[in-house]
Amino acid sequence: MRKKITIPDVLVMKREGRRISMLTSYDYPFTRIMDAAGLDIILVGDSAGVVVAGHDTTLPVTMDEMIYHTRAVRRADPRALVVADMPFMSYQTSIEEACRNCGRMIKEGGAEAVKVEGGMNMSHVIRAVSQIDIPVMGHIGLTPQSVHRMGGYKVQGRKEQAERILEDAFAVQNSGAFALVLEGIPAKLAAEITAELTIPTIGIGAGPACDGQVLVIHDILGLCEKYSPKFVKRYAELGPIISDAVKQYIAEVKAGEFPTEEHSFS
Ligand code: KIV
Repeated sequence: MRKKITIPDVLVMKREGRRISMLTSYDYPFTRIMDAAGLDIILVGDSAGVVVAGHDTTLPVTMDEMIYHTRAVRRADPRALVVADMPFMSYQTSIEEACRNCGRMIKEGGAEAVKVEGGMNMSHVIRAVSQIDIPVMGHIGLTPQSVHRMGGYKVQGRKEQAERILEDAFAVQNSGAFALVLEGIPAKLAAEITAELTIPTIGIGAGPACDGQVLVIHDILGLCEKYSPKFVKRYAELGPIISDAVKQYIAEVKAGEFPTEEHSFS
């Protein structure tokens, strides 16, 4: 029986100590395959800007692009909960703009929740959006939209920074978020946050103690050559498989071996 995964289900998973699986997806065919495999949460990440569109950072991604990807994902009718990333500058400038854009992501994109980056500095936004019944997933630690402030994609929360990350985690929870992504922080700090919070934590480069884990689908399938961070595990190498298929196609076209009668109309 295909039971849709909802926000309350995710909260129950934390309470019952059942780990949450989350991966990014940006389109219809990947979502169909990944959902049939039994994933709990699909994140339409703004990492689309890097792994799909080829930008160096997530900063250029627009609302319209995120809505396009989210609609494609929703067309696969996934059982998994669909969370969409709010792109840079779609929620930072004012509460009004944040509510309007998060509303668009639900209404036009079909997302079931949104994700925003930031801790104490974004608690007013998380509170306002949650209060209009749009479920919000927080994201703290290494927040890719803050790449310039951080001076690169660097681990956050080491030594004296740890207290600040803990405060961010509480600020996100107390503002009404239903879950929290912890990215690029020491495993011990993530374990402490996970033990303290009542909402689930989803880790990426945050060690094994989080309530769930998330990775970028292109990274785990070996489709992103640009860089492979330490926290990524490659579960498949699809690059050579795609390349071999394309080479065989080219060779058969050049040799006149494709199409045959089998692929032709009488
Ligand atoms: O955009 C993204 O893919 C993300 C996750 C990797 C957490 O924010």
